[in-house]
Amino acid sequence: AKQWRGVIREYADRLDVTESTPIVSLGEGGTPLIPAPALSARTGAQVWVKFEGMNPTGSFKDRGMTMAITKAVEAGAKAVICASTGNTSASAAAYAAHAGITAAVLVPEGKIAMGKLSQAVAHNGELIQIQGNFDDCLDIARELSANYPVHLVNSVNNDRIEGQKTAAFEIVDVLGDAPDFHFIPVGNAGNYTAYTRGYREAIAHGEASTLPRMFGFQAAGAAPIVRGEVVKNPETVASAIRIGNPASWELALEARDATDGYFGAISDADILRAQKILAAEVGVFVEPASAISVAGLLERSDAGAVPAGARVVLTVTGHGLKDPQWALKGADGVDVSPTVVPAETRRVAEVLGLVSGG
Ligand code: F0G
Repeated sequence: AKQWRGVIREYADRLDVTESTPIVSLGEGGTPLIPAPALSARTGAQVWVKFEGMNPTGSFKDRGMTMAITKAVEAGAKAVICASTGNTSASAAAYAAHAGITAAVLVPEGKIAMGKLSQAVAHNGELIQIQGNFDDCLDIARELSANYPVHLVNSVNNDRIEGQKTAAFEIVDVLGDAPDFHFIPVGNAGNYTAYTRGYREAIAHGEASTLPRMFGFQAAGAAPIVRGEVVKNPETVASAIRIGNPASWELALEARDATDGYFGAISDADILRAQKILAAEVGVFVEPASAISVAGLLERSDAGAVPAGARVVLTVTGHGLKDPQWALKGADGVDVSPTVVPAETRRVAEVLGLVSGG
């Protein structure tokens, strides 16, 4: 059987690489597009989930990072830098390690999920916790890269967007066309921009007939694009998208207008409810930020904005194992505690309701 070769080799004709480009890859991309009958039943649409948690470091960032690190190495860079709410830092550290260069990662102190922090440390990133939020981290990373020999690998680097556009190619490859709607989480809006570019290029190559309507969602406490103004102190359980001043704001508005798209805000309670629905009814465990795609679909469907039979793809951006704490909270906010039983088959059978007690 053949192995998927990573997004640069699979889509070399669509990316700015040559025969002599030193490709840095961990085999990213080629993620499953999973039919979600439970969500189709809830909405009347035909729903698929693009599970980006299946990438090497557990998030979609790997698609952009293979390209950003490859181009950095091609340009002779010995060090890269990024600001991150966690996933970008995990990915940058892993790809830099593979390439044998240094990754400096700036993260908001105490505000990133434990799994992501562990990844940055494990991959030997130069991890610095900043006493500020993500937006402060990005300002500093930009300034450092402008003044010192460190290469910026946030999504303001176009190589990141180029790599990330490949997810749209994969969806078109599987469905035979673009879907009618595409639902996606929004932080910096880099990925929203990348999918729109990918679908446009699929049309230019004659593989897709129309652009999907691009529906992006921000957490209610961190919704600058929806509100039309910078949010100074963004707050949400979806730490990956706790961003108050999105880097790709202008590009995202252009993409929304071009696709007859939409930006909406979702409460933390609805994000966690959607995370549970996706895990318990579809079998896909994602981090809270990713579940906002599901919450967005349910909200738009309730609002009557998604016609019956519409073909809908939800991008779920990061794996649930990165930030598992939320799954262990019940709907009432109380910790779930698994039942404890003595090591006796009969007692277990009783608890499972296989026999009546006695
Ligand atoms: N979902 C997850 C899991 C993310 O980690 C991010 C962004 C997004 C969605 C939003 O993507 O910024 O392109 O709109 N995480 C960045 C990081 C900010 O540092 O890992 P976006």
